[in-house]
Amino acid sequence: MNNPMAKTSVLVAACSVCLSLIIALTKFLHKYWWTPLRVQHFMASQGIKGPPYKFIHGNNKESDRLRQEALRNPMPGLSHDIFPRVQPQIHARIKSYGKNNLTWRGTKALLIITEPELVRELLKSNDFPKRTSRERKKDDEFAIKILGDGLVTSEGEKWARQRKLANHAFHGESLKSMSPAVIASVETMLERWKQIQGKEVELFEQFRLLTSEVISRTAFGSSYLDGEKIFDMLTKLSVITNRNIFKTRFTVISKFWKTADDIEADKLVKGIHKCVMEIVKKREERVSNGEANSFGTDFLGLLLNAYHDTDKKNKLSEQDLVDECKTFYFAGQETTNSSLAWTVFLLATHPDWQEKARREVMEVFGDRNPNPEGIGKLKIMTMIINETLRLYPPVTAMVRKVETEAKLGNLILPADMDVFVSNLALHHDPDLWGDDVNVFKPERFAEGIANATKHNPAAFLPFSLGPRSCVGMSFALTEMKMALSMILQRYAVSLSPTYSHSPFTQLMLQPQHGIQTDESYMWKHGVAFAGSLPCDRGIIPPRQFPRHQYEPTDEDWPNSKMAGC
Ligand code: HEM
Repeated sequence: MNNPMAKTSVLVAACSVCLSLIIALTKFLHKYWWTPLRVQHFMASQGIKGPPYKFIHGNNKESDRLRQEALRNPMPGLSHDIFPRVQPQIHARIKSYGKNNLTWRGTKALLIITEPELVRELLKSNDFPKRTSRERKKDDEFAIKILGDGLVTSEGEKWARQRKLANHAFHGESLKSMSPAVIASVETMLERWKQIQGKEVELFEQFRLLTSEVISRTAFGSSYLDGEKIFDMLTKLSVITNRNIFKTRFTVISKFWKTADDIEADKLVKGIHKCVMEIVKKREERVSNGEANSFGTDFLGLLLNAYHDTDKKNKLSEQDLVDECKTFYFAGQETTNSSLAWTVFLLATHPDWQEKARREVMEVFGDRNPNPEGIGKLKIMTMIINETLRLYPPVTAMVRKVETEAKLGNLILPADMDVFVSNLALHHDPDLWGDDVNVFKPERFAEGIANATKHNPAAFLPFSLGPRSCVGMSFALTEMKMALSMILQRYAVSLSPTYSHSPFTQLMLQPQHGIQTDESYMWKHGVAFAGSLPCDRGIIPPRQFPRHQYEPTDEDWPNSKMAGC
């Protein structure tokens, strides 16, 4: 290398490599070290504290540890104080840093708010959109594989168009016309119960089948069997999502190096796509071979009309069609499954309320199948469902993002931050609900939700609030009331001694080990609906129920009423 020109070229090349490395390192440190520290400092100056940011991992490791510890053992007794077990990391931070605090999901700042005024403002505002599927890919990659870019995650015009379509499919007259399909699905479940009499029944699984059947029949015009593979694959994806929830992911690395979970999740996504398209093809073929003259008016029919729309502006792509279907398969099933299971669990452990609900059902429907008009008259059942949704909300949190610097209450929030609302925390806050916050007391809702919450809408958020509130609320409540009515008309439900009280979230709130009812605790009414009240029909009085370690105390049993019949 005697040539001075060559020497200079090598030097220049070496300098540019060094410079590029320095720039890359500076950018990296700016993003993963300087920016988080700056945000932390900025929020602290406004009184918002939290655990210190840890390089790249944020507070993920601590959150993961807290969660693992919380899930190690079942809860003592049948306590409804589930917040510390289900969201231990949120509970711990509220305790240490106050109702509003800052935490770090990897390098992403997460502002946790539990002050009702802030929560209401956030959820009602259009200035705090949801995180899009593209953004979620960075830190929520697995969850987004379940929902794709469907209604739950889409934004802007696409969201508005899809929301209108879903509103049409799940409200008013459409809802009424779904009743026969819901009843038929409950009847299928009750038939199954007859076959398994004498054996322990796991309610969460029973309601998984029921709610899968209901959403398949009502939204997709098919039976559970057609959607079975889709449900199974969605469940597998939620298990993978749950396993990775606090794992720090490096976007660049995960593009080149796939973990076993990445590979499995990609396979499931492809499998779901294929199965959804098979259901779509079946519906299309019915039209093309003349069996039907339109795609139909159910949710799938409306989606297919949009899929075949010749106007490019309204046309749905194949990917959008699949994403929308899997969103509704998932959102329409997992949520109602959870709330039905927890409602029956609470009825099983509060026989006085079970009996009150049964009496009401018998007064309204007698031995007839429920109908939409009668469903509107079930006041006690509505109180019970509301109290269940308060103590055990299937969706336990909502997240919104701060796109550009924004004001929330008196706080200035920097861009690129997420805001996390734990409705579970609000539902279990003694400041909002009183010292008996963890007691099952449906009578709180006797005068409606507004009175129960003292006109504080953010105190009770099972279906969220504002423009992104649940589109399936009326559908879910109708389905639940129909199913509960038909169960109560036929069975007295009690808990099996093998039940272990372990609520946890796998995207939705679930019983970690199921909800077991012992078949010997479940009685079909003796003489089929001949009398006017269940006690005339030979329901076994509660005092004869075998007792077990988690059973309520004597005071909880309505001995006099039932045993006296
Ligand atoms: C007890 C049952 C249910 C509960 C507790 C529930 C809860 C919720 C909550 C809390 C949200 C808002 C999430 C957020 O703000 O980020 C939501 C949204 C949504 N729910 Fe439900 N849900 C239930 C049943 C259903 C059913 C049966 C369907 C479908 C038929 C459904 C479809 C949806 C969809 C598509 C959204 C997104 C709406 C949007 O962003 O515009 N849900 N649900």
